[in-house]
Amino acid sequence: MTDRYAVIGNPVEHSKSPDIHTAFALQTGQDMDYSKIFAPLDGFSRTVEIMRDNGFKGANVTVPFKLEAFHLVNQLTERAHDAGAVNTLVFNSDGVYGDNTDGVGLVRDIQQNLAISFQSKKVLLIGAGGAAEGVLHPILEQHPHLLVITNRTLDKALTMVKKVEEQGDFRFVSVNAYAFHDLPGNAFDIIINATSTGLTDANLPLPPDIFASGSLAYDMMYGRQTPFMTFARQHGARHVSDGLGMLVEQAAEAFFIWRRIHPETAPVIAQLRL
Ligand code: ATR
Repeated sequence: MTDRYAVIGNPVEHSKSPDIHTAFALQTGQDMDYSKIFAPLDGFSRTVEIMRDNGFKGANVTVPFKLEAFHLVNQLTERAHDAGAVNTLVFNSDGVYGDNTDGVGLVRDIQQNLAISFQSKKVLLIGAGGAAEGVLHPILEQHPHLLVITNRTLDKALTMVKKVEEQGDFRFVSVNAYAFHDLPGNAFDIIINATSTGLTDANLPLPPDIFASGSLAYDMMYGRQTPFMTFARQHGARHVSDGLGMLVEQAAEAFFIWRRIHPETAPVIAQLRL
């Protein structure tokens, strides 16, 4: 019998996950079906229940349910716990198991696809919402020299830094928070936009001198040229990328969790860019 999976979201119509997982399944010869499921804003847990009753094997979770998924699962992986959010569910007889593959997706896209290492680099993370929290630990695990978090609401960035300091796992990285206008004069090697401004076209009031020569500016948003990407190009970033590769890499990790096979991501990224 064909194994069934789906992405649950609201909205979900725009999701590329079915195309990505269908391509992975074809490539690896897996007998599975992957669809989109729209859940009412107050109906996430009910949707999961119905899916389980109907024999689904797992799901991806997208906006706005990643936090609710975190609270719903019976078992969490360490990286989902660190991220405070769940984007991948596995349904089994014991209940629902939750993981988060967003951070590993970002790190793999930057290190493997773009061939830029985090090690010993100065990294600027813009944003302190769910998307930023989800990638914080996986970035720190790559041993950058410095990680600065900047956010419109400085308190949220300070809270993220405090949490890292309290955990004490990353004493080898210097982690700080600054308001946009207080960013230190030194430029960064990897600048990641984890705010939602790519959706609204709002401008981020960033100093123009944050891009070191040879730097990478990465927007976790995909499918469009964001104001951040334009700003980065205008102010000296050497490489500018949207988050399409991250999307495919996080999907590949979810696929591995479900099927125990690593699909090849490069052809799928290329196909989506056509
Ligand atoms: P997500 O899950 O996408 O991270 P979120 O948790 O609502 O969504 O976080 C949105 C992020 O984008 C936050 O860092 C937010 O800044 P605030 O914490 O100050 O709200 C940031 N953001 C959204 N709109 C912004 C804007 N116009 N200018 C600057 N930052 C913005």
